[in-house]
Amino acid sequence: MLLQQTKVLTVSPDLSNPRDIDSLKFAAEIIKRGGLVAFPTETVYGLGANALDENAVKSIFTAKGRPQDNPLIVHVSTPDDISLYANTQNNKAFDILKDEMPAPLTVILPKKENISDTVSANLDSVGMRVPVSKVARKLISLAGVPIAAPSANLSGKPSPTCARHVIDDMTGRVDVIIDAGNSLVGVESTVLSLCTDIPEILRPGGFTLEMLQRLLGKVNVSDAVLEKLKEGQTAASPGMKYRHYAPNVPLTLVKGTRENVKKYLYDALRNKDCAVMCCDGLIENTDNVKGIILSLGDSERLEGYASLLFDTLRRLDEMPQIKEAFAALPEDTQGISLAIYNRMLRASGFNVADADVACAITEVLS
Ligand code: TXA
Ligand code: MG
Repeated sequence: MLLQQTKVLTVSPDLSNPRDIDSLKFAAEIIKRGGLVAFPTETVYGLGANALDENAVKSIFTAKGRPQDNPLIVHVSTPDDISLYANTQNNKAFDILKDEMPAPLTVILPKKENISDTVSANLDSVGMRVPVSKVARKLISLAGVPIAAPSANLSGKPSPTCARHVIDDMTGRVDVIIDAGNSLVGVESTVLSLCTDIPEILRPGGFTLEMLQRLLGKVNVSDAVLEKLKEGQTAASPGMKYRHYAPNVPLTLVKGTRENVKKYLYDALRNKDCAVMCCDGLIENTDNVKGIILSLGDSERLEGYASLLFDTLRRLDEMPQIKEAFAALPEDTQGISLAIYNRMLRASGFNVADADVACAITEVLS
């Protein structure tokens, strides 16, 4: 840290306030001098440092408590800048995706020599991203350097989707926190490897599989997206092997038909120590409900579920009376639901209950 204490600067997401640019100039100066700045993006808040300054990059790992073998994404302000740090030559998929940027998308490409082993965690590839957020892009262009940034949470905690989450985790660990309100997408970017013949999703996010298939044709999805890594198996994306997003209390995911999931959760809610995360309207009858219902928004709009997810997981940890939690899973893994499934599976430690089976057993026994 360069400053004595963490400074919080509020800016408008569209940079419409004349003072916003002064605030970003201050933050950009901190980056140039090797400091740490937490900044908003459309996905989640990032914890940024000059990607070309080895000591600054090392301090990101210390501030987060992040394992050294987990590489960082390098953020640039325009798609053209990607080829300054990554080899994009003769990469047809990259040429197509470049026109879609800025986007909630990180592309993994062979790295150039100016990307250190600390940034890439000794891999020969680098993750590159152009955020949609105007604030993020302005900060990068004012700093005049690429910004390496993981999500701005303490390692293992859910990624931050508003400045309060960052303040909770990072006060005293970073120089500046830029507050521009809630992140719109709410889950991290889609990580797509372009190092293989067929592009492969290593982490699903706001840029969905279906969108990628429309643009690129065949796209693979890494096994690690929906499955637990087996003993000794290496993750294509090192981040996938770590415990992530887990609340302090045990979390069970509930899948099945809407009717059976509803019965299962209604039953759980008779217990006052229990919290249930689900979309509005699932639990209509609140007679006998003693537990807490945490809304994940409208079931017709799962983008809302994604954007509320991390905040809801953090809120669980602020409720000492809660001893166990349940969450209703979306009915399928289409669109943004693939990212929701991926994050929820990790948050629960792959603990999934099948409401259809549970209800069938109850019927037999009654
Ligand atoms: O939306 C986002 O991507 C946010 C914002 C701040 O941009 N950043 C973010 O960074 O989520 P982080 O570090 O929390 O997650 C990056 C993920 C990790 O799972 C990491 O292992 C993977 O991307 N990754 C980064 N570089 C990689 C590489 N060269 N090869 C494979 N995976 C990589
Ligand atoms: Mg992260």
